[in-house]
Amino acid sequence: MTTTFASIAKLRATLKPLRQDSTIALVPTMGNLHDGHIELVRLAKTRADIVVVSIFVNPTQFGVGEDLDSYPRTLEADTKRLTEIGADYIFAPNVDQMYPVMPPPTQVLSGSISQQLCGLSRPTHFDGVGLVVSKLFNIVQPDIAIFGQKDYQQLAIIRQLVRDLSYDIEIVAAPIVRAEDGLALSSRNQYLTDSERQIAPTLHQEVLRLAQKLEQGEHMSSGLQALIDEAIARINSAGFKVDYLEVKRQDLTDILDVQQDQALVIVTAAWLGKARLLDNQVVRVLAI
Ligand code: PAF
Repeated sequence: MTTTFASIAKLRATLKPLRQDSTIALVPTMGNLHDGHIELVRLAKTRADIVVVSIFVNPTQFGVGEDLDSYPRTLEADTKRLTEIGADYIFAPNVDQMYPVMPPPTQVLSGSISQQLCGLSRPTHFDGVGLVVSKLFNIVQPDIAIFGQKDYQQLAIIRQLVRDLSYDIEIVAAPIVRAEDGLALSSRNQYLTDSERQIAPTLHQEVLRLAQKLEQGEHMSSGLQALIDEAIARINSAGFKVDYLEVKRQDLTDILDVQQDQALVIVTAAWLGKARLLDNQVVRVLAI
């Protein structure tokens, strides 16, 4: 049976005795669950005795003019899916429960890792993510927490948060779940029109194309930036507006020397109509 709590106190009171001899996994979400989220829950069930899924559209991670008000809220359908898959608890608080004072005076800042990539166009986003994830960790006190690898920068920031704030929580990264045509699943995909949906897989295709070129060492003759610029031009000409496309080390620090850096990650965000799509691909570059 899946039980839903809106109250922090009631969830805590329920989890406290269970903690003695059971492990707890937390799957933080903003609801509007798709198959990608369900995979996170499935993974959580293999890793812990009790699975708590939080559903909270967190206002502090939305910037001015972003889609906070229109973000799809589908608690009933989400509850049905989570019941079917056998999640134990849903934590679905309202804003007052999570933030007695708005805007919350206490902040969780992530420093330079958040001031790049998505952080350039969404400058307050990761502060909001850091704050809400810290609160969820304190409320649920899970043994493990599962995050999707689609939000690569978010995952890196959460790993940093766990390290810096000494949370005793194992962070588990779940692989990106994709539609058959390669589009990474996201709640925001529903903002795509039918014709945009046809174009959307191009983002992943171009990321894979760039990954292949790097794996084949093409950057040695063309230069890395020329390959990146070509990929951006191809994505834009398909109808996107690329926000960024960069090749970084896996911890999101800058590449020092592409000949030495073996495991890199291609990270991108691009607008397609009203949807801002994210994708990434880890790539092994041969040192020559
Ligand atoms: O990835 C998300 O859905 C959100 O950023 C998270 C981690 C649930 C925090 O609100």
